Amino acid sequence: MILAPMQGLTELLFRRVYERLFPGVFSYAISPFISLTKGNLRHATEKIDDVLPENNVGSMSVVPQILGNEPEEFIALGNRLYDVGYEEVNWNIGCPMRRITAKHRGSGILPYPDEIKRTLDVVLPMLKPALSVKMRIGLKDASEMLTVVDILNQYPLKNVTIHPRLGRQQYAGIPDLDTFNVAYNTIHHPLIYNGDINTSKDYEIIVTRFPNIADVMVGRGIFYNPCFPLLINGKEINVVEENKRLLRDLLNEIYGAMPTNEARIRKTKEYWSLMWRGVGVTELQAKDILRSTTIEQIQSKLEHVISQ
Ligand SMILES: Cc1cc2nc3c(=O)[nH]c(=O)nc-3n(C[C@H](O)[C@H](O)[C@H](O)COP(=O)(O)O)c2cc1C
Repeated sequence: MILAPMQGLTELLFRRVYERLFPGVFSYAISPFISLTKGNLRHATEKIDDVLPENNVGSMSVVPQILGNEPEEFIALGNRLYDVGYEEVNWNIGCPMRRITAKHRGSGILPYPDEIKRTLDVVLPMLKPALSVKMRIGLKDASEMLTVVDILNQYPLKNVTIHPRLGRQQYAGIPDLDTFNVAYNTIHHPLIYNGDINTSKDYEIIVTRFPNIADVMVGRGIFYNPCFPLLINGKEINVVEENKRLLRDLLNEIYGAMPTNEARIRKTKEYWSLMWRGVGVTELQAKDILRSTTIEQIQSKLEHVISQ
């Protein structure tokens, strides 16, 4: 199982805490994307720090993800990552955010197969690490996927992850498993499934229908119920208690890592807005905690939940 990239969530801090509490659940994580910037790599420092091997000691392994299509910058960043120890980088052609797709980045490139081809033609011969790809099935229409898969089939790639939604859907609707099935039958690369695996049952449905997929990637589900992967093998665990354990460690790490109370509150709320579901509270209680305005208030309310 692979941990999906999620900006602001599956960063180093979370990956380290998760690996400490539930070692070995994930074979690796894809990092939240690092954006290419024209002629300048400096702004990516914070993102690069997130994936530097020396900072990731005790964390799960990670494959850095790149967002953008500018070949020169792509090669420079990819090779820089190789030089610090990464043998694989992942190309994000799935991000649905409008300000990104408008620039033909993320899923915004999917209706333009020539641009995908041009990028791969220039980048791959010069790129030192292997390349994997994470994509959606299209920006506006699922028919985009087949053309893209045909192109990807012509290049040496480590693997391809498909989240079977359209970019313009954002997260609405349900994953289009029939379209995923078309990719399953036509792609030459190891194929990874991603989308709405939130329970052990969801996992079983996917691996039963698609027995030859190389792996599955899990995103939001790991925040809704952090220990759900442990249930896949029928292990008997106290789910709420395990999730509380993770939440407590995560809150401690946030407190230690964030420079100001404002930042601590913001980060705590980011995680809590997903993680309340796994620790036995009602939505009303969760919302009350989200209305906290001081660090003392949010900490004492969360401490109350955790020690209940
Ligand atoms: C808050 C948030 C941030 C995300 N950031 C990234 C990202 O940086 N790179 C990426 O490829 N996908 C990103 N995604 C998409 C997820 O990796 C994943 O494809 C999507 O959430 C569907 O999988 P899930 O249903 O298991 O969550 C993000 C999703 C969310 C909700």
